[in-house]
Amino acid sequence: MANSVIQLQDVRRYFLVGDYIVKALDGVSVDIKRGEFTSIMGPSGSGKSTMMNLIGCLDTPTSGLINIDSENTAGLNETELAYIRNQKVGFVFQQFNLLGKMTALENVITPLLYAGMGVKERKQQAMQALERVGLSDRMHHRPNELSGGQKQRVAIARALVNNPAILLADEPTGALDSKTGNQIMELFEELNSEGRTVVFVTHDRELGMRCLRQIRIRDGKLEE
Ligand SMILES: Nc1ncnc2c1ncn2[C@@H]1O[C@H](COP(=O)(O)OP(=O)(O)OP(=O)(O)O)[C@@H](O)[C@H]1O
Ligand SMILES: [Mg+2]
Repeated sequence: MANSVIQLQDVRRYFLVGDYIVKALDGVSVDIKRGEFTSIMGPSGSGKSTMMNLIGCLDTPTSGLINIDSENTAGLNETELAYIRNQKVGFVFQQFNLLGKMTALENVITPLLYAGMGVKERKQQAMQALERVGLSDRMHHRPNELSGGQKQRVAIARALVNNPAILLADEPTGALDSKTGNQIMELFEELNSEGRTVVFVTHDRELGMRCLRQIRIRDGKLEE
């Protein structure tokens, strides 16, 4: 299907803990079209992060098929998966996951280091991404010199810098107060209206309901 950008077919992710099997995802099928803005909601431990990590190729399924931007990820080796992670997906986390010793600009440049791009071009592209999130005046600050909302904007710039088909955000507002969280949500809405596919995990019902599509998950199964 040409306009599908994320397809999961009967995806399972089981973890063996001692002699007990945790069925973190237990037969999930979902089809997300290009340009959709989808929220994933569900109780703690229901499998939301597991699903995001699989879509983002940070993890591989126990069984089932995952297509990302028309690429079947089954059977890809670690180098090929790293390429998809780098080029097709931008990931934003609750705890920002910025490198503390680097400036905002250096953090945003990191994903471009794989691409074999010139130093000047890398810097220019990272500056554009920081400008896009409204942080041109904080480029040379380190994470500990930024507010929570600013840190998340740096993380979003880093996720955007390679112009990926998909933006994945796992509770990006979870560590922010509600006003700042709302501003971050507005930024995702703008990025979506520019045509980017966004998948957004949240515990906040109000934020979740603002997304055009909601996926609900419980005990590793969808309840759409
Ligand atoms: N590496 C792992 N090893 C064993 N069990 C795991 C592992 N990762 C996740 N799990 C289990 O899988 C289930 C789903 O976890 P997951 O992190 O996807 O939940 P979640 O919906 O993101 O929860 P939260 O809202 O608290 O972030 C949980 O029961 C969790 O304990
Ligand atoms: Mg989680």
